[in-house]
Amino acid sequence: MIGQKKSLVVFLAALGLFWVTGLSLSQADQNKVNEMLYLKKAKYVGMDTCAMCHEKEVKEYKLSTHARIHIKNDTTGAEDCEVCHGPGSVHVDASGGKGNIINPSKDPEICFNCHTDKKMQFRLPYHHPVLEGKMSCTDCHNPHGIDVRPWTATSENGINEVCFKCHTDKRGPYIWQHDALKDGCTSCHQVHGSVNDKMLIARDYNLCLRCHAMNNFPYGHGQNGQYHDFVYGTCWSAGCHSEPHGSNFDHYFRY
Ligand code: HEC
Ligand code: HEC
Ligand code: HEC
Ligand code: HEC
Ligand code: HEC
Ligand code: HEC
Ligand code: HEC
Repeated sequence: MIGQKKSLVVFLAALGLFWVTGLSLSQADQNKVNEMLYLKKAKYVGMDTCAMCHEKEVKEYKLSTHARIHIKNDTTGAEDCEVCHGPGSVHVDASGGKGNIINPSKDPEICFNCHTDKKMQFRLPYHHPVLEGKMSCTDCHNPHGIDVRPWTATSENGINEVCFKCHTDKRGPYIWQHDALKDGCTSCHQVHGSVNDKMLIARDYNLCLRCHAMNNFPYGHGQNGQYHDFVYGTCWSAGCHSEPHGSNFDHYFRY
């Protein structure tokens, strides 16, 4: 609380300075100041009020996992939409508009309030740059929708579609595609973050052994568990299966 008050003071001081010098705040800073001012007096109004103007979000939201959340012993009245957007009365009284209600599009802190473990994941050495502000949770998750988990088999968009938005080359088509992709990118990658390079689930041949029994592939792999090639690297870095996603060269995914 004290921290919040302090930053409010800092913001107001900055605002004052801009008034004095006649400069104007950027729209983003202006929104932040507004947010902090209104949050002090805004009250919770409930989802039915939001529904008057945001029918689409409300309809979608009712089918989502988040709609089933109830905060135990909560006395503030924070529920549904306002769990993420903060109390909405000022926004509603103004008949909507921008900058008078929290829009968490760029700031994951609101999600970390509940998903504390996710913050730890994004701090691991190899991670998607969410904490750096280069992308947001909503690049992969639809916070309102039933597709908040877009990687499920039942997703309208298919299992890897969300990844192809940015990693277009992984869509292929390859003449020989690795069937592992059908189980999803997450069968090999921990996409929030990982201790392994390229956000891999495992750093060595164990990544591949999760699906392949080595004695099905005796040639070049050694016998009886002696995988002699591995002194030169992993299945993909020793020069053997250099294209683990798929290849146009051969079905061993060599190049
Ligand atoms: C009286 C109509 C009305 C009501 C009620 C209403 N909104 Fe809005 N809301 C709007 C309008 C209009 C906009 C601006 C849309 C635009 O300019 O793109 C808006 C924008 C927003 C934004 C984006 C703000 C920004 O700064 O980008 C959020 C988030 C939002 N509303 C959430 C809510 C929530 C949550 C509720 C219920 C607590 C609610 N609204 C109730 C009309 C309303
Ligand atoms: C789990 C958190 C969460 C909940 C619950 C939630 N929202 Fe949002 N909302 C977000 C995030 C995150 C964004 C920013 C989306 C983006 O970046 O694409 C957003 C954006 C919005 C916007 C602005 C859309 C735009 O195009 O700019 C509106 C309006 C909105 N939400 C309304 C609602 C309403 C109404 C509800 C309740 C039915 C609701 N939200 C519930 C997280 C939430
Ligand atoms: C008020 C607490 C709260 C907030 C705020 C919140 N979540 Fe959640 N979220 C939950 C709970 C509880 C679950 C269900 C249990 C679980 O899967 O952890 C959940 C589930 C999820 C799931 C998995 C859904 C599923 O079907 O398994 C995703 C993805 C998610 N949240 C993303 C987000 C994002 C992104 C934000 C911020 C925009 C956010 N959450 C904000 C409490 C919250
Ligand atoms: C690069 C895409 C991407 C980004 C960015 C991302 N997620 Fe996820 N998230 C996923 C995928 C894929 C899964 C499924 C992981 C799996 O099934 O192994 C997932 C799973 C989840 C789950 C449910 C399963 C679990 O592990 O508890 C929650 C909750 C969640 N993410 C929250 C968040 C939050 C909060 C953020 C932002 C701070 C975020 N995610 C950012 C892709 C992403
Ligand atoms: C909004 C764009 C976006 C989406 C969606 C996205 N990524 Fe990424 N991905 C990035 C960015 C940006 C980086 C970081 C590149 C860097 O650090 O140079 C990255 C890095 C990676 C890396 C590590 C690459 C390396 O060279 O170290 C992997 C693996 C990866 N993403 C897999 C995925 C998977 C799997 C999904 C789907 C669940 C996904 N990404 C969704 C933007 C995205
Ligand atoms: C069979 C396991 C496996 C699956 C499934 C998989 N990957 Fe990978 N991926 C790897 C390995 C191994 C590397 C490291 C390759 C290297 O270092 O040359 C990698 C590297 C990457 C990289 C960074 C290097 C590059 O080639 O650009 C990205 C981005 C990436 N994967 C995205 C994806 C996406 C998107 C999917 C889903 C369509 C996916 N991966 C599915 C094993 C897999
Ligand atoms: C999620 C499960 C899964 C993982 C993990 C996985 N694979 Fe596969 N892989 C498959 C399936 C399914 C096939 C197709 C059926 C088959 O040939 O066994 C396949 C086929 C292959 C083939 C083609 C074999 C042929 O004769 O055409 C190679 C080579 C291969 N995988 C290498 C790898 C490597 C290297 C890794 C680790 C980077 C790996 N796989 C990880 C599921 C997986």
